[in-house]
Amino acid sequence: MNDIQEVRELFEGIPFVENPVYERIISDIGIQNYSIIDDFFPSETVSLLRQSLLYKHEEERFKKAAIGNRVNEIIVKSIRGDQILWIDETLSNTAERLFFEHINDLVTYLNKTCFMGILQKEFHYALYPKGTFYKRHIDTFQNDDRRKLSIVCYLNTEDWKPENGGELVLYLNDEGQETARVIYPFPGRIVIFESQIIEHEVKPVETERLSITGWLKTR
Ligand code: OGA
Ligand code: MN
Repeated sequence: MNDIQEVRELFEGIPFVENPVYERIISDIGIQNYSIIDDFFPSETVSLLRQSLLYKHEEERFKKAAIGNRVNEIIVKSIRGDQILWIDETLSNTAERLFFEHINDLVTYLNKTCFMGILQKEFHYALYPKGTFYKRHIDTFQNDDRRKLSIVCYLNTEDWKPENGGELVLYLNDEGQETARVIYPFPGRIVIFESQIIEHEVKPVETERLSITGWLKTR
């Protein structure tokens, strides 16, 4: 507990309950700029979110992901091949409500304990068809640095195997030495990282790969 939390408890009578998972995320990000949490979402929630993604994809509501704007589609395809659908929290279905309950809880905790100043968020479903990938990139746009934390939540089925490809690779800088951290997109797992710092890529997928990706943003 930090000083501010103690003061809040003392004067406002608001009990502060430490959340060990959130504390781990905060500590990991402080030390290494990223955190991987398995079972962040219970398997029933993952299953509902997967069904929601597949239903909406079936309805052909997904769009080929773009990069920046006014970019030639062929160039885009050589950079990223995923299809996405933005999620409108105000129109959430049951699965999405469960998703945002967890995310909003985390955001409240980050703002309260680390003064992160997260005021906005944006999330989209992503589907990578077989053979697609997302080349090495960083998640912030030129002249817009509001994205602070990137969050990726994997919605693949329980039988997802490393041979299915689609690894997320984080490129880390250890005192001038680059190392690659390979992360498999197992269901229920989330990866959180500093949007402005960590370059990363999604390796080609052998089997359709499902996820929700989003960003926690400052004003
Ligand atoms: C992205 C991204 C990583 C992943 O959508 O910007 O880098 O593992 N996604 O899906
Ligand atoms: Mn990215």
